[in-house]
Amino acid sequence: MTAARLHDRYPELGTGPIPVAPYIDPAYFALEKKYLFKNTWLHVGRVEELPKVGDYMLRNIPVLDSEIVIARARDKKLYAFHNVCSHRLNKIAYQPTGTTRKFFCKFHGWAYDLDGTLTGVPDEKSFMDLDKSCLGLTRVSVDTWNGFIFINANPAPDTSLKDFMEPVYAGFETYPFDKFTACYAWNAVVNCNWKVALDAFQETYHVNYLHGRSIAYALLKDEDGNLHPIDGICGDLHRRLSIAGDPDTVYGNPQAATAAAEQDVGVNQTGHRIAAKALKVAQGGTRHDLSGIKLPELLNWTKHPSWAFDINVVFPDFYLSCRPNYFQAYNFRPISHDKTLFEARVYYPEMVTAGGRFYQEYMKTALRDVLLEDLSTLETTQAAAATGAKQEMVIQDFELMVRHQAVAIDRLIEEGLRRDGQLQAAE
Ligand code: FES
Ligand SMILES: [Fe+2]
Repeated sequence: MTAARLHDRYPELGTGPIPVAPYIDPAYFALEKKYLFKNTWLHVGRVEELPKVGDYMLRNIPVLDSEIVIARARDKKLYAFHNVCSHRLNKIAYQPTGTTRKFFCKFHGWAYDLDGTLTGVPDEKSFMDLDKSCLGLTRVSVDTWNGFIFINANPAPDTSLKDFMEPVYAGFETYPFDKFTACYAWNAVVNCNWKVALDAFQETYHVNYLHGRSIAYALLKDEDGNLHPIDGICGDLHRRLSIAGDPDTVYGNPQAATAAAEQDVGVNQTGHRIAAKALKVAQGGTRHDLSGIKLPELLNWTKHPSWAFDINVVFPDFYLSCRPNYFQAYNFRPISHDKTLFEARVYYPEMVTAGGRFYQEYMKTALRDVLLEDLSTLETTQAAAATGAKQEMVIQDFELMVRHQAVAIDRLIEEGLRRDGQLQAAE
């Protein structure tokens, strides 16, 4: 008997090839900007980055054609606004992060409060009919979900962040995001479409091959040696994959580096002995005891005994992978139709012993090498796609997420065009 296919659960997504044009066509990218990115919630960071009144961060977001300032104001709330002075449009914030009392424009000295209100205008009486109350910085929407800060370029969003997340991600509240405070980050500008990059992170088909010499050994394979995800969920926009690991390996054992991990995990993995040794010296090295944490039910939703982690893609470009011992938050930020800023952040528990720190450095470096493998195909894939040699790509069952993304984006663009009267309603 053949196992049920993931595709069978989502007949509306079809089973045919998917078109290449959305990956290479600047006109399609212009539609994505207008109908996806400028009207949805985009992850920009964590609340731990802005703990105090006056803390701010600057985010250049090319797909919004904007630089956005996010600041914690005197009422302790977060505000987000365009980095554009209301006088003659100079910038009002200049550092990537900082702490300030007010924002001062360097051109003529206009001053703005932390919530964007205009408070000071030098030589104010020389202006004619100046109404300061209408000349605050131009706001965008900002909200948080489990400590992640999201902005929406639309100041009056169609959907609240809560309603945007809940259909697929309700129930994450008990995940210990706030316990994983040791953050490591890498950024890379990659010459490929943002979907080429994200696609490489939302299927496991490539792992046996591309990561054959690095990490493939740590994930669970079936009797034929194939590396299938345990399950996948496609929401209206978001999608999730559940992945099983080999608990005898350090990388595939979700309890590694928590007090619950066995001391001898990985000792039988010839060729990976350093991982086992690193784990051994890390025991008891975390600042917080993570052994008693009860993970949310929605992680490992199939209750698979060898579940290792979830891949959660928050539409459109935020990848959040949660494990019991750390989480990864990646963004695939479009710059143009063939250029993407890959922002990778990994959050580990804080380690307070030398052994713990060594283990973390080992895990971090191992992950960095895997990421380099992931990035290694992207630019050649984009260049090959742009030749026009192929108009379509074929997709297997466990690449469902790639298909789901293509269909969801097409649908949003079509809805947007129809709203704008640029498409006739279907007969
Ligand atoms: S442009 Fe900002 S004060 Fe003139
Ligand atoms: Fe990969």
